[in-house]
Amino acid sequence: MIADRLASSTLDPDSFRAIAELAYRESGLTLADKKATMIQSRLRHRLRALGLPDFPSYCRFIQSDRGQDEHRHLISALTTNVSHFFRESHHFDTLRDLVAQRLPSLRAGGSLRIWSAGCSNGQEPLSIAMTLLDQAPDMHKLDLRILATDIDPNVVRFARAGIYPERLMNGVPDAMRARYFTVHQDDKAGEPCFAARPELKALIRYNPLNLLKPWPMKSRFDAIFCRNVVIYFDLETQCTLWPRLHQMLHKNGVLFLGHSERIAPPEAFGFRVGEPTTYHPN
Ligand SMILES: C[S@@+](CC[C@H](N)C(=O)[O-])C[C@H]1O[C@@H](n2cnc3c(N)ncnc32)[C@H](O)[C@@H]1O
Repeated sequence: MIADRLASSTLDPDSFRAIAELAYRESGLTLADKKATMIQSRLRHRLRALGLPDFPSYCRFIQSDRGQDEHRHLISALTTNVSHFFRESHHFDTLRDLVAQRLPSLRAGGSLRIWSAGCSNGQEPLSIAMTLLDQAPDMHKLDLRILATDIDPNVVRFARAGIYPERLMNGVPDAMRARYFTVHQDDKAGEPCFAARPELKALIRYNPLNLLKPWPMKSRFDAIFCRNVVIYFDLETQCTLWPRLHQMLHKNGVLFLGHSERIAPPEAFGFRVGEPTTYHPN
C-alpha cells in the first residue's frame, strides 16, 4: 500500500523548498527548481527505506528531532560524486613540477602536505599519490601526506577501500596501473576490479569533512585540490570559502579549482592566478 503511494508520490513545491533549504544550510548545495525531478528520483529510496508514504511526511521527519540523523543520508543522496583519475591532467603536471622543486628540501627532512577537499570516490587523492610516487623511487621514505575529505561518508568509505571496477580505471596509464594496482576479485556484476597497492594508500588519510563547518586541521598545506566542489555552491558561500582556503595554504602553496570554477577577483581574496584554474597566495 505504502509502495503504491510512494510510486506515485511527486515532489510538491513546499517539500522541494524544505529540502533545498536544508541542503543549503547544511552543505552549501544550491538546488535550482529545474533539479526537482532529479531530487525526487534520488530521494525516493530514502522514503522507501524509512517506510514513509510521500514527500510531505519525509519533510516532517527531517524537521523533527528523530530525523536529525537522516540529514546525512539526504546530503549523500543529493551530492554529485562524479570523478575520474587524472581529471584535468594539466593540474598533475603542475603538481609534478612543484614536487620536483621540493625534492631537495624533502630529502633534507622537509615535509609535503596535500589536501584533496571533496575527494569523492578517491580517484583524486590516488592520482595525487601516483604523481608523487612516480617522481622518485625513494618517495615513500619521505615525509609526504595527503588528506582526503568529503562531506559524504559513503564516498569516503569507498575511497578508503581503494577498489575500483575496470570501468572507473580510465585515465590511469597502463604502466601506473601495473605498478600501483593489483587485480582484485570481480565485483558482484562480474567486472574485474583493481585494488590500490598499500604503498599508495599509505600516503593518504581519509576523513569525512563538511567544508562549511569548522576544519580540525592545525597545519597548512603545500597544495589544496578543491575541484568541482564549489560549482554546487552559490557565490556567497564560495566567498566565505576562499579566505579559509587561503589561510590553510603555505605562502608558496597552490590551490587547484575545477575547470568551470573561478575566484573573482583573485586579488580580493589574496590570490594571484597561475596556470588555468590554479591560484597562489600573494
Ligand atoms: C563532483 S565531485 C568532485 C570530486 C573531485 N574533486 C574531482 O574533481 O573529480 C564533488 C564532491 O564534493 C563533495 N561536496 C559537496 N559539498 C560538500 C561540502 N559542503 N563539504 C565537503 N564536500 C562536499 C561531494 O560529496 C562530492 O563528492
